[in-house]
Amino acid sequence: PDGKLDGMTGTLALSVFTAVLGSLEFGYNIGVINAPQKIIEEEYNATWVHRYGESIPTGTLTSLWSLSVAIFSIGGMLSSFCVGFVSEWLGRRKAMLINNLFAFIGGSLMGMSKLCRSFEMMILGRFVIGAYCGLASGLTPMYVGEIAPTSLRGALGTLHQLAIVIGILLAQILGLESLLGSEDLWPVLLGITVVPTVLQMALLPFCPESPRFLYIIRCQEHHAKSGLRRLTGRQEVGDMLAEMKEEKRRMDMERKVSIPELFRSSLYRQPMIISILLQLSQQLSGVNAIFYYSTSIFMKAGVQSPVYATIGAGVVNCAFTVVSLFLVERMGRRTLHMLGLGGMCVCAIVMTMALALLDSVPWMSYISMLAIFGFVAFFEVGPGPIPWFFVAELFSQGPRPAAMAVAGFSNWTANFIIGMCFQYVADLCGPYVFLIFAALLLFFLIFTFFRVPETRGKTFDQIATNFQQRSASAGMMDMDMDMDLDKPSTEL
Ligand code: GLC
Repeated sequence: PDGKLDGMTGTLALSVFTAVLGSLEFGYNIGVINAPQKIIEEEYNATWVHRYGESIPTGTLTSLWSLSVAIFSIGGMLSSFCVGFVSEWLGRRKAMLINNLFAFIGGSLMGMSKLCRSFEMMILGRFVIGAYCGLASGLTPMYVGEIAPTSLRGALGTLHQLAIVIGILLAQILGLESLLGSEDLWPVLLGITVVPTVLQMALLPFCPESPRFLYIIRCQEHHAKSGLRRLTGRQEVGDMLAEMKEEKRRMDMERKVSIPELFRSSLYRQPMIISILLQLSQQLSGVNAIFYYSTSIFMKAGVQSPVYATIGAGVVNCAFTVVSLFLVERMGRRTLHMLGLGGMCVCAIVMTMALALLDSVPWMSYISMLAIFGFVAFFEVGPGPIPWFFVAELFSQGPRPAAMAVAGFSNWTANFIIGMCFQYVADLCGPYVFLIFAALLLFFLIFTFFRVPETRGKTFDQIATNFQQRSASAGMMDMDMDMDLDKPSTEL
């Protein structure tokens, strides 16, 4: 049995749509803080004047603002680490449902901070919404990966990223001063994040819990079957259940996998290193240097209207995620990831040259703008979407939650580091700052070439088996491997 479903059904579409509402909110909160910076800073100052009768010292304002931006990633780091535990304890679906509480609290705190004249509420709200996003960034790909048929797993997995980039674009557009990014309306801009929350809470009860979770973890064969029937639209789901049975049989022979064991066990170490490096390749590619600081980057590059150029980058970002959506099941994860990293590397070098020549050759500003668009486009071809769902693919049901937690944590930590450090490093290196990313990109490209396997079209069981065979043949394991020898030995 290869576990293939016939394809798309109404329930599957509804379930994936509902899940990625969380991703939409994640993206929205990445992008929302960029445009209204000046206006919110003025509000912080007004509060300060109101409280202490004098305007806020510049240093204090910078610190308060940096904190408001960066505390989002700290919330994400902390909560992404809990993804494993929460998703096992509550189940995937209930975990997503309850996570919405964070969105409510976070959105309300930010939305009411102006009314209450409190930047503390704003900062706390950013932390709480970050916590929401950290959980969503693990729960969504896990749930989608588990309910997707093998043949659509990559395409549906990419929808997580697509919703993120739509969220970013939405925030960029709504953040325009003529829309919600104004002195009076910015609280609405930040508070509006509760809207997808309400929709997700209304729809989740109609989505089935992940049958893999129900069967393999909770041993509820009956419920798993009815979920499978709804997701596939078929009455006969024996073949899929058989594949899960095989995975369960294997899992029952293993001990429960804790996070330290992921690193100790020779079986998991390899996929774990790959997962972490893929997450790092996504964040250390430097893409968020663009998404957090694009306006000032475009300004330095001499681009005429930086705010619209930022929106342009958001549009390119969305368009190329759609491209990836169509390519990922044809060309495979590995090829697209390498193509993306390579393209980004070239664009980073072009951008550096254009910035360095700007003073002598004025039209270089167009070249830098094109290079930035290219950089973002290549990002979305591979490094954007693929790491998110790849981790769920590399691990079977037992170690998956712990692995997603570690991978998510690495992603958020790297995100935090870029958010905090980019501006300082950019001031230090001037136009050459993107060469650092070019070097990192080259490193990740080489790593992917030598280490990352292709997972397209393979069931979770086949993928896990291949790692087992690899680690066994490398002589690192003395476990009894007989049970796996009858499995297809598709080279990973
Ligand atoms: C990915 C990254 C996120 C980034 C976004 C840009 O989802 O995880 O940090 O901002 O892509 O499109």
